[in-house]
Amino acid sequence: MDGKQECEQKMKQAYSEQEHRRDILDRFLDMAASMTRSCGRKLGSALRMCTPRGMQMRGFQTYSLPELSYDYGALEPYISGEIMELHHSKHHKTYITNFNTALEKLHDAKDPQSIVSLQSALNFNGGGHINHTIFWKNLAPKSLGGGEGPQGPLASAISTQYGSLEKLIAKMNSVGAAVQGSGWVWLGLNKELKHLLVETTANQDPLVNKGLVPLLGIDVWEHAYYLQYKNVRPDYLKNIWNVVNWKDVSQRVVWCLVMLASRSTSSLSSTLIGAKGISGVIIVIIVIFPR
Ligand SMILES: [Fe+2]
Repeated sequence: MDGKQECEQKMKQAYSEQEHRRDILDRFLDMAASMTRSCGRKLGSALRMCTPRGMQMRGFQTYSLPELSYDYGALEPYISGEIMELHHSKHHKTYITNFNTALEKLHDAKDPQSIVSLQSALNFNGGGHINHTIFWKNLAPKSLGGGEGPQGPLASAISTQYGSLEKLIAKMNSVGAAVQGSGWVWLGLNKELKHLLVETTANQDPLVNKGLVPLLGIDVWEHAYYLQYKNVRPDYLKNIWNVVNWKDVSQRVVWCLVMLASRSTSSLSSTLIGAKGISGVIIVIIVIFPR
């Protein structure tokens, strides 16, 4: 077996290992692919698989609040339990409630004007649901690896593109602190160019609106930090890195690349192995999930 065949085999093995996982990134890629469709259809398609679904009512899908994999107080002292409880059980839940309401109106809409008028509510509340679902998974208590930096090729890719993890963090902190009003700072993946990007989105716009795959999102709305940090957003940004779940970030890279590969199996090797100018990110799939 030559090197190319070995790589292909490893890719297929990794894909097999991953294919039954809940694949959030694939859902977001689906969403990106559907961006040219109508707003309601686009968000509905993206979110139908985003998180635990609620009941299917009257022929349309509704959504429910996903449970956290850790206690509200587990991220202390970096993010207080009070913030986490309010953020998750009130703010995120409200986005879901309003999104479900908008979906119901979309279902009942009889004319184009009524449909178009729902675009803002769908984007804001559907985006809020998407963004927060990522955010909770991007975080982890220290006891579960929160704050432990990325390993292997993802670490190498960050080092190659930003100089070091510390420099990437400094950039995201700077960009995040400068977000005017409410929004998010992201580490995203350009799936065509296969490189990382720091980007921001306003309000609850999802990152896929900018054509990027979300890897790590930090909520810089005041509701994410004000009770603990008051108006000092930079302190919140400085501390949140103590509970960032880099394993989750790495998995999102892998899922993205695996899904891209699975859609073009005939060009698997040329897409993921043979492409020119690809950084260490591209071989994450092989190295992070060795057989
Ligand atoms: Fe939030």
